[in-house]
Amino acid sequence: MTRAIYPGSFDPVTLGHLDIIKRASKIVDELIVSVLRNNSKSPLFSVEKRVKMLEEVVKDIPNVKVMSFEGLLVDFAKSVDAQIIVRGLRAVTDFEYELQMSQTNMVLDHDIDTIFFTTSLEYAYLSSSTVKEAAYYGADISRFVPEPVIKQVYNKFNLKENRNEQD
Ligand code: COA
Repeated sequence: MTRAIYPGSFDPVTLGHLDIIKRASKIVDELIVSVLRNNSKSPLFSVEKRVKMLEEVVKDIPNVKVMSFEGLLVDFAKSVDAQIIVRGLRAVTDFEYELQMSQTNMVLDHDIDTIFFTTSLEYAYLSSSTVKEAAYYGADISRFVPEPVIKQVYNKFNLKENRNEQD
């Protein structure tokens, strides 16, 4: 059985993340979307809320589950018996950081490999921070995040949904 983890902050999950989740879930038996409890970032959503939003978004993909973790990624991978780490590459600017991370993980645990998915072109520019900034200023974020997440993000900024009805 091939089990992979897809780690990240997911604050919040975007359509770019969902694209990677859908594609990765087709090539492994089980994919665990793994939400990092990261004390060095100040998140908009609690880990519990991020896990809940992800669960809602992946509920129709049977071989995907969602968990949170803290500490070293390779330790978490081992604890759930995963052999593969999935990451998305949006642009060349991601490459150096991702290469360094995958090589560090490789040194820490030689049994765990990283597989990279190139992000689909329509989501190549996306990041959770830009979604938050756009929402903060009242922009339409329906092209950036999955449907169940839209309202949650606006609620955080005390805004009503702002969809561009002409589109
Ligand atoms: N679509 C949209 N956005 C994407 C994306 C995609 N396909 N892929 C990455 N991003 C964005 C994220 O939204 C996030 O945006 P933000 O910075 O605006 O919030 C950004 O890219 C960073 O990505 P994320 O996936 O959240 O990674 P991270 O750098 O916060 O964390 C971990 C990566 C969790 C894998 C890493 O920190 C980790 O392994 N931590 C555990 C500690 C450890 O083991 N360290 C040793 C390894 S070197």
